[in-house]
Amino acid sequence: MDIWTAIKNRRSIRNFTADPLEEKELRNLILKAGIWAPSGGNAQNWRFIVITDQKVLNKLKLVSPGLLGSPQTIIIICQDLVNALEKGGELGVKTLSLMDTAMAAQNIMLAAYAVGLGTCPIASFHPEAVQRIMGLPVHIYPQLLISVGFSKENPPTPRRDPNIIWFNSYEE
Ligand SMILES: Cc1cc2nc3c(=O)[nH]c(=O)nc-3n(C[C@H](O)[C@H](O)[C@H](O)COP(=O)(O)O)c2cc1C
Repeated sequence: MDIWTAIKNRRSIRNFTADPLEEKELRNLILKAGIWAPSGGNAQNWRFIVITDQKVLNKLKLVSPGLLGSPQTIIIICQDLVNALEKGGELGVKTLSLMDTAMAAQNIMLAAYAVGLGTCPIASFHPEAVQRIMGLPVHIYPQLLISVGFSKENPPTPRRDPNIIWFNSYEE
């Protein structure tokens, strides 16, 4: 699949089949796409936790209002905030870590689309509750969930506004 097709046709999927995903495929998504995203100072403070256990998934659902449908898998993208502070100071913790997570997430979602999987990024969840459920240390901070599965829907393409580009100067 060419890159333009993936970028344009990937949709946020909120309705999944019950088919399970292979661990190898999930590992590939992270190793072939997630970790090849850029990160500030090449810090690579991301930590990917893959949930396929439906019991754990159900617990995560309870603390994630933005998690819709019944995906077979959730990838929790966390950042190691101790490393982020050591490597990047306040900028590393407050800004770079979020950007790094977002870049890894987009890579994963595009790669998933290219191999026939649906995904949805989910920011509407309670990070501290996810930490509790997963028994994470306080410095491993969940920043984004990605649901992954086989899509059971073909959502319409939400409109994009093309009038958002300026060259050399900006005018309202
Ligand atoms: C940072 C971020 C957070 C999002 N959080 C949620 C969420 O909590 N729940 C959800 O269903 N969709 C969420 N989305 C998906 C957006 O609603 C979706 O990307 C947008 O409507 C455009 O649709 P598309 O992804 O199909 O192009 C999020 C997207 C981004 C980038």
